Amino acid sequence: MFMNAGGWMGSMCLLHASLTEYLLFFGTAVDTTGHSGRYWANISDTLLTGKMFQWKEGTLKNIEYQPGDTVFHEWGEVTGVSWPAGTWMVEYGRGFIPSTLVFALADTFFSTTDFVNTFYIIRVYAKALMMEAGFYLSDFRQFIKDML
Ligand SMILES: *[C@@H]1O[C@H](CO)[C@@H](O)[C@H](O)[C@H]1NC(C)=O
Repeated sequence: MFMNAGGWMGSMCLLHASLTEYLLFFGTAVDTTGHSGRYWANISDTLLTGKMFQWKEGTLKNIEYQPGDTVFHEWGEVTGVSWPAGTWMVEYGRGFIPSTLVFALADTFFSTTDFVNTFYIIRVYAKALMMEAGFYLSDFRQFIKDML
């Protein structure tokens, strides 16, 4: 599904999400540039194809990353980001994930006003959380069974 945030536009496919972690495929089919967002989470991107340019706050040059590289975005940090068309990566986030959702939805909600997409993103995250809850419940049920 599409994702608009920080002025850039990408597309993502969520593989796993909980309150403290997520794993997804992310990338873009058009050249796109914007703001990374500032999160209560560490995010790492491992490039599969294309390139990523990361411009760290307070510096005058960007850093270029190639397929195979992992780009680390630390908790509290902000950068400028740029991806040429055809860039795809695996992204892993670890921290307080609901805090990243506010940024992830901001441009969709206030700029593109694509509320259908807002709904898709909230629905897929809610579904992931339900699956997590289901996993813990079945674990707990097994634990009770083992005790009896
Ligand atoms: C985020 O990364 C920093 C620096 O590598 C580390 O000290 C911290 O424990 C990490 N936080 C989480 C939630 O993984």
